[in-house]
Amino acid sequence: MDIVPQIDLKAGYLEHKAAIDAAVMRVLESGWYVGGEEVAGFERDFAAWAGTKEAVAVANGTDALVLALKAFDLGPGSRVATVSHTAVATVAAIELAGLVPVLLDIDEFGCLDPAALDQLLSGPDGRHVRAVIPVHLYGQPADVAAIGALSARYGIPVLEDCAQAHGATFDGRKVGTFGRVAAYSLYPTKNLGALGDGGIIATDDVELAERLRGLREYGWRARYISAEAGQNSRLDPIQAAILKVKLAHLDHDNARRRAIAETYDANLEGVEIPRVRPGATHVYHQYVIRHPDREGLRERLKAKGVMTNVHYPEPVHRQPAYQRRVPTGTMSKTEALLPRVLSLPMYPQMTQAQVAQVIEAVRASA
Ligand SMILES: Cc1ncc(COP(=O)(O)O)c(C=O)c1O
Repeated sequence: MDIVPQIDLKAGYLEHKAAIDAAVMRVLESGWYVGGEEVAGFERDFAAWAGTKEAVAVANGTDALVLALKAFDLGPGSRVATVSHTAVATVAAIELAGLVPVLLDIDEFGCLDPAALDQLLSGPDGRHVRAVIPVHLYGQPADVAAIGALSARYGIPVLEDCAQAHGATFDGRKVGTFGRVAAYSLYPTKNLGALGDGGIIATDDVELAERLRGLREYGWRARYISAEAGQNSRLDPIQAAILKVKLAHLDHDNARRRAIAETYDANLEGVEIPRVRPGATHVYHQYVIRHPDREGLRERLKAKGVMTNVHYPEPVHRQPAYQRRVPTGTMSKTEALLPRVLSLPMYPQMTQAQVAQVIEAVRASA
């Protein structure tokens, strides 16, 4: 029996092996192993691709969120609204920046519910909420139009968590251009993934980008002179060189993900397929179906060689580190959704035979 992995990172490397190997060798032979032209060049390429004036590369996606929040200067203890249905990193970053997360429920598309945000901002605690982080989860854009309108009404900045949504669009515009700042993870599994850790912050705010360049390196304004307290969060030039190669294929890879999703959409039976928000383009970081007997289905698929994953087994407000500690609104939609979600195999290099095997297995098991 052939095994279909849920993701195949090595296939992504082998597809561009010659170019990636050459990029790595170029850095090794350059004698320049932190920062420098490789990183600056990747930042320029990424900003041009993302549609922002600036991009600032950092060590990982969590740091991208932390540094963006620090640069907002919200004041210690300020509250930041986001969703509970996200990677823990989104919420961890808020606390790492010295701020207090407030977790909200999701809308019917699985992203931050603007109605819940409105209720929070207009309520008694609303004035303590100083920023909002919509997460474009699984590659599906959050409702950036409604969230943007609330941000304008209440005067709070939007930080887009684009870790799972490189290239997704809403109203024909890339996510990451709607808020004041966007934070991307470049973790290997992401739509644009390094062969190690990485992250990048995209913004049109040139001054903020300069500030971020200081904050990622001990708060330096000049070498060895710290203008403010910072940290070390640098992207490795070897990773920057690899990412430059992979960025050139990102749009094509996203199109391949969408083609696989269309085949799934048209042929799966017995499960709820992902719905795309009207006006949005989904980039299928994950293709997540819904099924009442998620664990049973998962076992039956495994028996047929189809590997799956669960994103996520618990919402953040139910995790031991956060439960009963982090303020939350009602979570009925998050709690109803999470026991049913199952991520099917999804990566650009999937063959037609693999896609067919997944479809066959789901039809026989659901
Ligand atoms: C939604 C979301 N936000 C933030 C992160 C953090 O990224 P990293 O793992 O690169 O720190 C991730 C990735 O794990 C993520 O999926």
